[in-house]
Formats: sequence, structure tokens, C-alpha cells
Amino acid sequence: MAKVNACVVALGFTLLLLAETWAQNPRKRQTPPKTPKAQCCDDVRSLKVQVANLTSLLEEMSRKQETDLMSVVRQIMDLDKQNRQQEARVTEAESKYSEINNRVEIMQLQTLQSATQTSSDATYDCASLYSKSYRISGEYKLPKDEFLGTPELSVFCDMETNGGGWTLIQRRKVGLTSFNRDWKHYKNGFGSIRGDFWLGNDHIFRLTRQPSVLRIEMEDWQGETRYAQYGFFTVGNELNSYKLFLANYSGNAGDSLRYHNNTNFSTINKDNDKCVDDCASLRKGGYWYNCCTDSNLNGVFYRYGQHITKNPDGITWYGWHGSNYSLKKVEMKVRPVDFQP
Ligand SMILES: *[C@@H]1O[C@H](CO)[C@@H](O)[C@H](O)[C@H]1NC(C)=O
Ligand SMILES: *[C@@H]1O[C@H](CO)[C@@H](O)[C@H](O)[C@H]1NC(C)=O
Ligand SMILES: *[C@@H]1O[C@H](CO)[C@@H](O)[C@H](O)[C@H]1NC(C)=O
Ligand SMILES: *[C@@H]1O[C@H](CO)[C@@H](O)[C@H](O)[C@H]1NC(C)=O
Ligand SMILES: *[C@@H]1O[C@H](CO)[C@@H](O)[C@H](O)[C@H]1NC(C)=O
Repeated sequence: MAKVNACVVALGFTLLLLAETWAQNPRKRQTPPKTPKAQCCDDVRSLKVQVANLTSLLEEMSRKQETDLMSVVRQIMDLDKQNRQQEARVTEAESKYSEINNRVEIMQLQTLQSATQTSSDATYDCASLYSKSYRISGEYKLPKDEFLGTPELSVFCDMETNGGGWTLIQRRKVGLTSFNRDWKHYKNGFGSIRGDFWLGNDHIFRLTRQPSVLRIEMEDWQGETRYAQYGFFTVGNELNSYKLFLANYSGNAGDSLRYHNNTNFSTINKDNDKCVDDCASLRKGGYWYNCCTDSNLNGVFYRYGQHITKNPDGITWYGWHGSNYSLKKVEMKVRPVDFQP
């Protein structure tokens, strides 16, 4: 279009020059008016105007076409964007729907269950829910039980891993909840049952009064997963400082809790470790610190890029990634030793 324009302009200019030369020619002035030559000059002038008009028309057209093309491109881009947004919205809606569906199913099952509940088949963990045919992983509400002396409690059940029936006692995956908390917080539990939380030492004590297995699942920032399982796990009550007892390690993450075996629980305001150092303050979490750790699953959550930390206070498991690597995700879960999937 630009080329055509240039040609037209050039043509217009030539014609203009031609007309001017004609007009200035004195010989032609001498000739009487109304000759074919004068006619010719008028024609040229009119042609000149026409060419000028055409030129501006062409210019206008090309300008319009350019903006038209741009607006078409913009429209296509907008449509594409809208399309992608729509897709994302559908995906989001779908996942929300399935989550809601899950929750509804769980609630329906639980309503049914609380109606038929008797004290002889009390529900006090995810394994007993599993044996009552609850097979969906998610949040469940355990009812208060006078006989067992257990309060109502929200728990998260893993009904899939290695046969299911697991009650989660800890999770790290979001990283917005501080685990640098005092004794009372660790005693009663904190955080969000669907996100990061510590179930509470009193609850862990009650859950592990029956012989229990502890399973710890971990994920690093490369997406690789490992686990450590203890065939026997229990903690003392508050009078015994929630002392840890475990045995019979298996797994592929390394036995990094063994060092913590037979140690009391410590928090920033209760130093029960076997060290002159105050491990809970140094490692910024509550844990069964010895002097101080071979693992610290309640340490500081370091995000991607910061997880290889110079500080020793990350979420660590020495048996896998050593003392400087803070894990991306951790889940600690328990179920009875005699659980049958
Ligand atoms: C040139 O354009 C003007 C207005 O833009 C119009 O009035 C005139 O008639 C046109 N001349 C020719 C020869 O097309
Ligand atoms: C560890 O495993 C062995 C062999 O299965 C078993 O005999 C023992 O009782 C277990 N220890 C504990 C503390 O459960
Ligand atoms: C653990 O705590 C209890 C009291 O809660 C105490 O008697 C015991 O000495 C402590 N053990 C260690 C190793 O600190
Ligand atoms: C923990 O200590 C007890 C003795 O108190 C021992 O029987 C058990 O094997 C130890 N656990 C591990 C994993 O070493
Ligand atoms: C990891 O920690 C050890 C001792 O805690 C230290 O010597 C080493 O330099 C650290 N490595 C990195 C990469 O920071």
C-alpha cells in the first residue's frame, strides 16, 4: 500500500510540474483563448485535483486498514485470552465441584454414622472410620466420647496411602503458619487441618495409647518423595513431657528420628532437651530435641530458592538431604499397629 501511495504521489507531483510549465510558457500565452491547449490545461488541473484527492483517499484507506488490522489482531488476542481464562475457570470450577462433592459425601456418611453410633464402636481415629467404610481422604469430625474421655476433634484422614486409615498429626506444605510456638500451642494444636498444622500433643498422646505406627512422608523441591516409617510410636502425656518412644524403622528416607528416641518435647518456653543449648529457640520449632537434631520437621519453612539454607533451622531430615536442606512438604500420620486394610 505504501508503494502504491508513493507512486500516486510521484505521479501527482509530475503532473503538477507539467501543468505549471505549461502555464508559464509565454508562447502559449500569446495564443488566443479557447484553443485545445487551454482545454488541455484545464484538464491537467482537474486531473491534478483528482490525483491529489485519490492520494489522500489512498492514504486514508491505508491508515484505516492498518488500524483495522491492528484491531483484528487485538480482538483475536483478546478472544484467545478470554478462551484461556474460561478454560482456567472451568478447571477451577471442576476441582471445586469435586472437592465439594467429596465434602458432601463425607458429611452424609458422618450423619449416617453419628445416628448409629454406640459407645462400643466409638470412633476415635481415621482407622476406625476406615473400618466403618469411610474411604475418602479428607477432613472428618471425630465425635466427643465420654467413655474414652476424648473431646470432639477435627482430623484429616489419609484413606489411600499404603492401605489408608491414617490420622494426620502434622503437615507442612503451604508455609504461612509459624511453628515457632509455645508449649500451650503444641499441647492443644494449631494451624489449619487442610493446610499446615500440628494436631496437638494431647491428641497425639490419646491417639497413640493404642500401639501405633508412625509414617512420615516427605517431598523435596525437585518433586522427589521419600518416607520413614516406625512400626511402633507413642508419646507420653503432659506429665511425662510428651516423651517420644519409637522402634522398628523402615523406609527410604533414613532413620533420622532414632536420635530423638526417649527425649522429652521442647518448645521455645520449655527447654527439655539434653543440651546446654536451647534447641527449640535455635531451631525455631517445638520438637523432641536431643542435642539438638537429626531431623526437625517443625522447623522454618523456606521457600523455593531459599531451601538450601545456611541456617540450621529449616524443615530438615538429615538422612535424606542433610542438615541444610529445608523440605517442601511433610506429612506425619499414625494408625494402629493392628490395622487391617
Ligand atoms: C476532491 O475532494 C473534494 C472534497 O474532498 C471534493 O469536493 C471534490 O469534488 C473532489 N474533486 C474531484 C475531482 O474528485
Ligand atoms: C519390632 O519388630 C519386631 C519384629 O517384628 C517385634 O518383635 C517387636 O515387638 C517390635 N518392637 C516394638 C517395640 O513394637
Ligand atoms: C522428661 O520429663 C520428665 C518430667 O516431665 C522428667 O522427669 C525427665 O527427667 C525428663 N527427661 C529428660 C531426659 O529430660
Ligand atoms: C528407642 O529406645 C528403646 C529403649 O528405650 C529401644 O527399645 C528402641 O529400640 C529405641 N528405638 C530405636 C528406633 O532405636
Ligand atoms: C551445611 O552445613 C554445614 C554444617 O552445618 C556447613 O559446614 C556447610 O558449609 C553447609 N553447606 C552449605 C552449602 O551451606
